[in-house]
Amino acid sequence: MNLIFEELIASYLDSGVGQSCDFLSSELSDGLVLNLVGHKMKNDMKSAGIGQNEDFHKDLTYRKDKIHWLETTTSNSSERLFFKLIDSWISYLNQTCYAGIIKSEFHYALYEQGSFYKKHLDQFSKNDSRVFSMIMYLNANWQEGDGGELVIYKENEIVKIAPSLGRMVFFDSGKYEHEVLPTSVSRMSITGWLKRT
Ligand code: OGA
Ligand code: NI
Repeated sequence: MNLIFEELIASYLDSGVGQSCDFLSSELSDGLVLNLVGHKMKNDMKSAGIGQNEDFHKDLTYRKDKIHWLETTTSNSSERLFFKLIDSWISYLNQTCYAGIIKSEFHYALYEQGSFYKKHLDQFSKNDSRVFSMIMYLNANWQEGDGGELVIYKENEIVKIAPSLGRMVFFDSGKYEHEVLPTSVSRMSITGWLKRT
C-alpha cells in the first residue's frame, strides 16, 4: 500500500489534488457497494444537508445526494477493512508529512440519476477542523458521457475527474471549491474528512 500512499502524496504536493486509481481493491469496493445498496433498499440513505448545527438545512436545489455515515464500531468485514486502510493512510500521512490528523469521518454517498452537488467548500464557516477531503469512487462501469464528474476549481486551472471504481481523490478541505456535475447514471462513493480537532 505504501506505493499508493506515496503516489497520493506526490500528486498532492505536485498539483494540490492527490489521486490514485487503485486505492480501493475490487474486493473491498464490491463489499462496500453491497453495503451501500443494502442501505438504499432499507431506505437508510438520507438526503444530505448543508451547514452545521443551527445553520444545518436541506436544499435539494444545491445538493441531491443521499448519504449514510459509517460507524467505526461496525462489525461488517468490508467496513472493518476499509477503516484499517484509512488508519494506515492516516498513520502514513502523519509520519511522513507531520499532518497531525487525529480524527476522521466518512459517509456513503449515492447520487441517483439527475443528482448533483453545486460548487462548494468542504469547511464549515465556523469550524475549520476538516483538513483534508477524501473521495473514493465505487462505479465499476463509469463511461464518458455518464456525467457525475468531480470538478475542482484550482487557482489557475479547472480539473475534471471521472468517478471511476477504485479512484481516490484528496485535497485541502478549506482551499478548493468543487462541484459534482449532474449524473445520468447512479453514482456511488464514500466521502470523508481527515480532521485535526
Ligand atoms: C462532498 C463532495 C465530491 C464527489 O461530498 O462534499 O464534494 O466527487 N463530493 O463526490
Ligand atoms: Ni465537497
